[in-house]
Amino acid sequence: MITNNKTVISQLLLLGLPIPPEHQHLFYALFLAMYLITVLGNLIIIILIILDSHLHMPMYLFLSNLSFSDLCFSSVTMPKLLQNMQSEDTSIPYTGCLTQMYFLMVFGDMESFLLVVMAYDRYVAICFPLHYTSIMSPKLCVCLMVFCWVLTMLYSMLHTLFLARLSFCENNLIPQFFCDISALLKLACSDTYINELMIFIMGGLVSVIPFSLIIVSYVKIVCSILQVSSTRVFHKVFSTCGSHLSVVSLFYGTIIALYIFPSANNSTVKDTVMAMMCTVVTPMLNPFIYSLRNRDIKEALKNVLCKKKISL
Ligand SMILES: *[C@@H]1O[C@H](CO)[C@@H](O)[C@H](O)[C@H]1NC(C)=O
Repeated sequence: MITNNKTVISQLLLLGLPIPPEHQHLFYALFLAMYLITVLGNLIIIILIILDSHLHMPMYLFLSNLSFSDLCFSSVTMPKLLQNMQSEDTSIPYTGCLTQMYFLMVFGDMESFLLVVMAYDRYVAICFPLHYTSIMSPKLCVCLMVFCWVLTMLYSMLHTLFLARLSFCENNLIPQFFCDISALLKLACSDTYINELMIFIMGGLVSVIPFSLIIVSYVKIVCSILQVSSTRVFHKVFSTCGSHLSVVSLFYGTIIALYIFPSANNSTVKDTVMAMMCTVVTPMLNPFIYSLRNRDIKEALKNVLCKKKISL
């Protein structure tokens, strides 16, 4: 009986952002600008790292992976948001929704795995400076990156397959500007117990373990600086870890804020602001944090621009 009542829905509606119509154009321009800055900033970082052979070091290869991941992360949601802000029809096919959710998870988790690998890289660079090149060999770097990409793809595939089992009924309104897994679960009319359990356990694992590993690396880094306690060493450590630490704080600051701030009064607005922070603001700021604080990147940018001038 129950199965007869279920209609298979083929489309979902994205409610989009709670923006009053008179401000629609202003926000459209703002988001378009932010998206373009994200794409441009991350592309510049990737191109610089490919072009400049001084930057062919583990730290920068990881950084170019991070930029690639940021670029894709924001490209999964922003073009659709921009398109929806301009058109009346905000529907998205069911398969499109699952695809968007899958890639969102792939690139989002990749960011958190990359931050761990980068923290480990800084830990080796500071605590074992003499063995750095032999420990962080090109082979290990490639292995680490392949491992991270495969892990995040498998993990996201698992969630997506479990979600694809669910059936959806008449209600097809997603109160977000992208296909968010928790919003989709609320719409499902079959039992979502297993999905929720999986999100709780696996989601906990992929956020708590990376975060703890980063903390452990930094505790070890701090311990090793305290043993030396010279201002020169301190300065050097700060200049090599500063950018990474800023990106980590931005990424985990957003996530922690999401859990700490009470969602009592206006949870849709809060969810939207947080989603915006994760999908738009963080990927946009990462390249700037790295390039503004980092002498090597600035140097590389200067070199590339000067070479261009000479060849012209
Ligand atoms: C990611 O890192 C690997 C291993 O260090 C490197 O070979 C590759 O070029 C990087 N990929 C991107 C897109 O930057």
